[in-house]
Amino acid sequence: MPSKPILVVTRHFTDAVEARIARDFEPRRNPSDKPLSADELIAAAEGADALFISPADKLDATFFSRVPKSVKAIATFSVGYDHVDLAAAKVSGIPVSNTPGVLTDATADVAMLLLLGASRRAYEAQQLVRSGQWAKTKPADLLGSQLGGRVLGIYGMGRIGQALAHRARAFGMTIHYNNRRPLPDDEAQGAIFHETPESLLRVSNFLSIHAPSSAETKHFLNRETIGLLPPGAIVVNTARGALVHDEDLIAALRSGRVAAAGLDVFEGEPQVNPGYLDLPNTYLLPHIGSATVETRTAMGMLALDNIQAVLDGKSALTPIPLG
Ligand code: DGY
Repeated sequence: MPSKPILVVTRHFTDAVEARIARDFEPRRNPSDKPLSADELIAAAEGADALFISPADKLDATFFSRVPKSVKAIATFSVGYDHVDLAAAKVSGIPVSNTPGVLTDATADVAMLLLLGASRRAYEAQQLVRSGQWAKTKPADLLGSQLGGRVLGIYGMGRIGQALAHRARAFGMTIHYNNRRPLPDDEAQGAIFHETPESLLRVSNFLSIHAPSSAETKHFLNRETIGLLPPGAIVVNTARGALVHDEDLIAALRSGRVAAAGLDVFEGEPQVNPGYLDLPNTYLLPHIGSATVETRTAMGMLALDNIQAVLDGKSALTPIPLG
């Protein structure tokens, strides 16, 4: 029987994904389930056929200059690929794939959760119940903002942005968006296109961020752009923390210029800017956008399909465009 390909597996995945790894590959595992250092990843890759990585594994230019020649495929367990240096990946010639499409609904669900959690002051309300202070509430306590009849501005109207729009319409919200291009009518579903992010921000009672992290989008939400939002707007981010300038958003949350924020992603996560932690008007989650059994299994299976395809001499199903 031919030997199975050696696969470096940097994290532990769902049972179904782990079973397939054990069946189809000779796994080289990270025993700790904590992100490997750059040196550990390079050492693990020695003689391996493929790497199954997560967004916590940073594949920078140094990594690609050192990656062993045996490695023929790399798959990341994420739709986002800001942790991969695309130019260096291209030079290396190793195909790198991601997992788009399969986490759309799960992530849009969490964006909806954040819209509701932030607007209905869910963190403060939870605190009240857990601290035993509930009996003392008055009718005018813990008043939030209604979603119905308000404008939801979506910055980045890809799959997840569209899936959030679908959900938010059911809550009576009007959808506006900014994207590189206007969507065809059947995808826009009546959502109103804005040529510029600035024009979108001016009408967004609620803003949800769905653009990829890049040099162009870094700190997209900052003091200046926050100043364009209607006073008392609510901001939600399920994309990447780097799109938000934390200190500027924290200042706006403190002053009430931004009424509340729901955040699932943070710049430098798992570290979180401590300024967010004391603010009652934040609803904070630890990057759980794709965290359902179904979605994490689908992501793992797609990553393995991609690796298998490349090892079989085909193209990955969902390659990252390396330019
Ligand atoms: C993704 O797939 O990019 C999600 O943010 C999970 O990392």
